[in-house]
Order: sequence, then structure tokens, then C-alpha cells
Amino acid sequence: MPGPSVPRMTDSIVVEGLVKRFGATTALDGVDLTVTEGSVLGLLGPNGAGKTTVVRILTTLLEADEGRAQVAGLDVVRDADAVRAAIGLTGQYAAVDEYLTGFENLEMVGRLYRLPKIEARKRAGELLERFDLVAAANRPAKTYSGGMRRRLDIAASLINNPRVLFLDEPTTGLDPRSRLAMWEFIAELADGGTTILLTTQYLEEADRLADRMVVIDRGRVIARGTADELKAQVGGQRLEFTVTDATALPGMVEALRPLAVDEPLVDLASRRLSMPVSGGAEVLADALRRLDGSTAQIFDVGLRRPDLDDVFLALTGHAAEEVATDDEEPHEAPVPTGGAR
Ligand SMILES: Nc1ncnc2c1ncn2[C@@H]1O[C@H](COP(=O)(O)OP(=O)(O)O)[C@@H](O)[C@H]1O
Ligand SMILES: [Mg+2]
Repeated sequence: MPGPSVPRMTDSIVVEGLVKRFGATTALDGVDLTVTEGSVLGLLGPNGAGKTTVVRILTTLLEADEGRAQVAGLDVVRDADAVRAAIGLTGQYAAVDEYLTGFENLEMVGRLYRLPKIEARKRAGELLERFDLVAAANRPAKTYSGGMRRRLDIAASLINNPRVLFLDEPTTGLDPRSRLAMWEFIAELADGGTTILLTTQYLEEADRLADRMVVIDRGRVIARGTADELKAQVGGQRLEFTVTDATALPGMVEALRPLAVDEPLVDLASRRLSMPVSGGAEVLADALRRLDGSTAQIFDVGLRRPDLDDVFLALTGHAAEEVATDDEEPHEAPVPTGGAR
């Protein structure tokens, strides 16, 4: 794993050796990361991994016990006021005033940022438009759906035109449609050049939005890189078969062995065969030709590339969205579910 990076002019966020303890809990155990200006970093990890703690330290809401952090070239402890003026934060739990309308919420935040009243109102109007909230602008926020609230929250965090934006689990709890809409808004912000640090438990979200990812588990960085780099760590593609009768599997393994680049995995209980292969779709056609004339009844077949769920499982021994437990027993690696992706 690469060590702490040397700060560069183009890094909007530089974090070195952050340690944070809460009593007996070590929430962060030496976290290093950098975020290049104008890029999106996905900070990934299960519940309790330390994501929010990183965000709180970087947004000056919490002081680290050890290590240092810079945001927009400013030290988060020494230059805390200037950091606050340069950033936007959307917390894990929406910080919207229920009784104010969408417009009033944004106007209030603008005033907190010391914008003149007329400027705050102008900005509020622009942001309502941008986040598709014009029709709801004059309704109290308590009448908003979860997706609308979250949009209002992000709009509020943009009132001061921040150069660096922190989004802590921006889509947790949203329905799939609102999540997609939120992804579009975040992608637009990123395209506009805002540096974004996004925490998420959803690997698909990081895959869609993040240029680079840092995976943390129990307060430590366990992997970092682009989605492709992380996927490469868990190996290449596999050919997967599910048959209707497990007794056909050994014969299939023999017929297909010439195509395998590594040891095939057979799971009799789930009637599955998973075989590491190289090459594209032609390997699938080749495999089917080799099975021609065999008596195996194939229920499902697919060529599968590892996705981030596989990465997460390989790295942490547990699935990303599983609630963390104190269970230290090694988990059995489940047989991947089939189907070409
Ligand atoms: N204010 C706090 N007091 C005590 N423990 C805390 C506090 N904040 C976080 N923790 C603990 O620190 C760890 C990391 O928490 P957090 O940063 O919220 O993780 P995540 O956001 O990845 O779910 C967890 O074990 C959590 O219980
Ligand atoms: Mg959190």
C-alpha cells in the first residue's frame, strides 16, 4: 500500500496519519489520503468504518488526536474559519429546518454565510431551480419527500460556491429513483469542477461517481485506486455455470479445463462451477462448444467480471452493506451469483 503522499499544489485535500479515539474505540487508526483538485474521491466502508469521523475532522467539526489535514491549502485546525468558508458539507442526516420553506431555508443559510439579503435570495432562487425544487419552494420543508430534502440539503451546502464539497452518504435511505436523480446532480457538480469527497456504503455509487476510491475498514485504509485498479486486485473474469444436476459438474470441469487460467471452483450444493478465464465473449462460445454433446443440463451460464462487491468481500471478508459485527471469525467466501454482467 502506498505511504503518505507528498502534498502537491493540485491536491485539494491532504490527510496524513489521522488518528481519532473515542474512549476505548479507535475510530481512525492512521488514515492517509489525498484528493486532486476537481476530482471526486469515494470514501468507502461499512457502517462504523470511520467515514463520518474523517468528514467531521476535515470540515472542522472535530479535532483529530494525531495527524494533520489540509483542505483547499488550509490547515483544518489552525485555519478552521477559512476552511469553513471554502467548503460545503452535506451531513449524513439532513440539516433542514422543518418549519421553513425551501426558499427560506436557503435564504437563511445564505445569511449565515453573511451574504447580503438580496444576494442570499438570488442564490436561493438559483439553487432551487438547479435542484428541481422550484414548485416546492414555498412549502415548508416538512412536506418534502426524502429525496427533496436531500436535494435541499445539498443546495444549502452550495450556497457559498464551495471549492470543496463533502457529501456524507448522500443517497443512503433514498429510493432508487431519487438516488439516480441525486447521482445526476452530483455528476453535474463534479463536471463543473467542484472537488468532492463522497462517503458511501454503496459500491455502485462510488463506481459511478468517483474518480478514485479509498476503502476503509475499522479506521484503516485497506485499499485505494481507481475502480478498475481495485477490481484488478481480485482477479480477472470468470466463466460461471449453474447446472440442474450437480453430478454433471466433474465432467464439465474436465471438458472445460483447457480454458481455465486458474483452478476452477466447484460448489456441489449450489450446483455451480466458477472458472477463471481470459479473453472476451469468444471464451464463452468456446466453452459451450466443448460442452456440446455432454449430458449436462445447463440452467444458467455467464461470463462475469469482478465488481466492487467482490472487491469488498475479498478485502474485508464481509459484504459492503452488511452491518458490521464483532464477529472475528473468518467468513466463508460465498460462491458468486452467476449471470453475465
Ligand atoms: N462521538 C462519538 N463517540 C463515541 N464513538 C464514536 C463517536 N463517533 C463515532 N464513534 C465510533 O467511531 C467509529 C467510526 O464511526 P463513524 O466515523 O461514524 O463510521 P461510519 O461513518 O463509517 O459509519 C464507530 O465505532 C463509532 O461507533
Ligand atoms: Mg457515517
